[in-house]
Amino acid sequence: MDKIIILDFGSQYTQLIGRRIREIGVYSEILPGEKALDSATVKDCVGFILSGSPFSAMQEKAPAPHRSILEAGLPILAICYGIQWLTLQSGGAIERSKAHEYGPMTVSFLPIARKRNLWSLFSEGLPERFLSWMSHGDSIVHPGAGWEVIGISEGGVPAILAHEYKPWFGLQFHPEVSHCEHGTDILSRFVLGVCGARAAWSIEAYLDEEAEAVRSKVKSEPVLLLISGGVDSTVTGAFLLRCLNPEQVYLLYIDTGLMRKAENEEVMLNLSRLGARHLEAVDAESRFLEALNGIADPEQKRRIIGDMFIKVQEEAVQRLEIPNAFLAQGTLYTDLVESGKGVGNKAQVIKSHHNVRSPLIEKKRAEGRVIEPLDRLYKDEVRSLGRALGLPEEIVGRHPFPGPGLGVRILGEVTKEKCEILREADSIYIEELRRRGLYDRIWQAFCVLLPLHSVGVMGDERAYRYVLALRAVKSEDGMTAQPFAFEMKDLFEISACITNRVPQIGRVVYDVSSKPPATIEWE
Ligand code: XMP
Repeated sequence: MDKIIILDFGSQYTQLIGRRIREIGVYSEILPGEKALDSATVKDCVGFILSGSPFSAMQEKAPAPHRSILEAGLPILAICYGIQWLTLQSGGAIERSKAHEYGPMTVSFLPIARKRNLWSLFSEGLPERFLSWMSHGDSIVHPGAGWEVIGISEGGVPAILAHEYKPWFGLQFHPEVSHCEHGTDILSRFVLGVCGARAAWSIEAYLDEEAEAVRSKVKSEPVLLLISGGVDSTVTGAFLLRCLNPEQVYLLYIDTGLMRKAENEEVMLNLSRLGARHLEAVDAESRFLEALNGIADPEQKRRIIGDMFIKVQEEAVQRLEIPNAFLAQGTLYTDLVESGKGVGNKAQVIKSHHNVRSPLIEKKRAEGRVIEPLDRLYKDEVRSLGRALGLPEEIVGRHPFPGPGLGVRILGEVTKEKCEILREADSIYIEELRRRGLYDRIWQAFCVLLPLHSVGVMGDERAYRYVLALRAVKSEDGMTAQPFAFEMKDLFEISACITNRVPQIGRVVYDVSSKPPATIEWE
C-alpha cells in the first residue's frame, strides 16, 4: 500500500497532517524528523512531508532531515519550518519577522504557478486566492537556489514555493489545520497528484491486512486481552474474536471499582454477543481501593492503579494456565506518540499511561508476544473499525475513558463513597447530554470530583457539600482540545439536575480551559 512519511520536527500540528493524509485515502506514518532512510521506511513510500517545528531554522541545534531523505529522489512537501530549513540549506535567507503571522491570512497564487506542468498539477483546481492558516515567527526573505516563489501572503511573504527541477514544494502556512481553506485539497494535490499515490487506505483494507498479520503471528496460540470497558479495548476484543478462533481468545475484564455506572454489565453483554468463549470478570474493587487508600498524588495514583492491573493480569495468566499466551492491548497511535515510543518527535511523557508501560507487556514485547492491532490507528479510525466489526453505536461512539478510570477524576484521595458519588453525577451529566442531542457533538465529557467542600443551604440548614467540575471538550484526537461552548441554559439545567439528584454535591462549576495549557483529564 502506498504511503506518505511525515517527518516530525515537533510541530503541534504533525498529528493532524497524518490524519488528513489518511482522510484522503492514503496511508501515512509519522517518524522522528531526523531519521535516516532505511528499507522499512522506503518500502511503498511515495513521498515525504516535513512538518513545522517550535524551533527556528536559524537556531544552532535546529533539527534537520537526514541527507538520505533529501537524496531519495521522492517528492517532498515542506511545511513552515520544513521549507524555512530547506531555504537556508540552499542558500536562501529567512529572518525573524517583525510581526509574527498567526491565524487566518489570504494567500494568492502568482501567474508563475502555471509555468511548469508539475506546478500546475499542484495548484490545479485551487482558487487564485484563499484563506490560509499561518503560525510562524520566521519568514522567508529570499528563496534558496532552485526555488521559485509561486504564491505570496497578503503581507507579501513567500507562502508557496516550488522547486525548479525537483518534485519539491514548500508552504509557509498549515494546510492540515481545519481553518485553512482548501487545506485538504492542497495536501491531496501533493499526495495524489505530485506523488501519484493510490488511495488504497480504508478501514476495511486495514482490517484485512492486520487480521492476516495477527493470524500469522499468533497461529493457534492463546491470546489474553484485558478489557477496560473503553472503546479501544472493546474494539481490540472484537477484532481478536473476528480474526482468530474465539476458542484461543481469553478476555479478562477487571472491575477496578473505578468504572462508570453500569459499565461492567454493558461490557460483558457486548463481548458475549460477539461470540466470546472465555470471558471472565474479575472483581478487584477492594484491592484497587485498598491500594489507593490515603494516596493523593496523581502520578502515584496512576502508578498504583497501573501496577495493580499488572498484578491482576499476571495472576490471571497463571490461573488460566496460559503462560505462553500472547498479550493483546488496545494501544492507539496517539498513545505511542504521547508516551514517546519513538513515533514522531514529541517524546516528552506528559502522564504515565499504564497501558504502554507494563513490565509484563515489556517482557512479552521482548519475546515478540504482544499484539497491538490498533497501534497505527487514530481514535476516529478505531471507531470506524468497531463499526466494521459490528459493534453497536453506543459502544463505538462512546467518549474516551482513561485507563485509571475514576481514579484520576477524583482529585486527591480515592474512596468508595467518592466513586459512588462521581459515578452517579457522571451518569446524570452524560444522560443529560444525550437527551439534549449534545453527546455526539462533544469529543469527551465527564465530571471531576474536587477534594473540597463548599458552603450551601439545604432546607434551612447550612451544609458543606462537594464541588463538582464538568468537563466537555472538542478535539480531533485528544492531543489538543478546546472547551465545548455550551448554551448557558443547558449548563444551568444540567447543574440543577445533578445537585437535585446527588445530595452530596452542593456546587457545580464548568472547566473552560483548553489543552494546552491544561490537559483533558485533571490528573
Ligand atoms: P490528557 O488528560 O492527557 O488526555 O489530555 C488525553 C486523552 O487521553 C486519555 N487518557 C488516558 N487514556 N490511559 C488511557 O488509556 C491513561 O492513563 C490516560 N490518561 C488520559 C484522556 O481521557 C483523553 O482522552
